[in-house]
Amino acid sequence: MLADRTRLHIALQKSGRLSDLSRDLLRDAGFRIQRSKNSLTARVENFPAELMFVRDDDIPTFVSDGVCEFGIVGQNVLEEFALGADEQRYEVLAELGFGGCSLKIAAPETLAYDGPKSLTGERIATSYPRIVRRYLAEQGIDAKIVKMNGAVELAPRLQIANFVCDLVSTGATLEANGLRPVETVLDSQAVLIRTTKMLDDTRSKLSAGLLTRVDGVLTTKE
Ligand code: PRP
Ligand code: ZN
Ligand code: MG
Repeated sequence: MLADRTRLHIALQKSGRLSDLSRDLLRDAGFRIQRSKNSLTARVENFPAELMFVRDDDIPTFVSDGVCEFGIVGQNVLEEFALGADEQRYEVLAELGFGGCSLKIAAPETLAYDGPKSLTGERIATSYPRIVRRYLAEQGIDAKIVKMNGAVELAPRLQIANFVCDLVSTGATLEANGLRPVETVLDSQAVLIRTTKMLDDTRSKLSAGLLTRVDGVLTTKE
């Protein structure tokens, strides 16, 4: 299927905040998505493209490797990937105007906090270790980063770390876990990315066609 060079492959988040909105964008752009339940791929009925539903953290890798020519991903995930990659093999084509959120440091409501210096010597649990490391370096703060792949908000209760750094959209997750945001590290939204690997004629024409359709939607929304 991936050896198929006659169609485009678009990587989308399988499940999570961006998945429905990503599909909505493609639908608004005129792509009719054929979806079989539980399937990890779906064909576009009226355009030679196939959607690949994957974990958001994997999207930059797939696009960089050219396994998928396009991807829709949060700037937060992309930035974390970029900080660990020695080479950028994708380009950001457009900010999509949805999936807005911020990466924030948060702490238990009961914990005293008086600016970034309060983080000195503390442990911070996060799925974004590179972004947090950069933030701490910029602030000149020495703290320990604890990498967690999910359920980061549990870290204080499990006494893994006093602080967490995670995405905040509505704030409901923090609140449900008795946490309050104390610093904003990065603002984020969904972006469309494309591989910088050379495409053959067929796929570079398709790529231009896809862009025209997506641009149409973004222009209407402005
Ligand atoms: C983020 C984050 C929180 C939640 C916050 O997860 O990890 O769990 O969203 O949203 P809220 O402020 O509206 O409650 P995301 O959907 O990005 O999924 P993932 O971390 O599993 O990739
Ligand atoms: Zn394929
Ligand atoms: Mg995530």
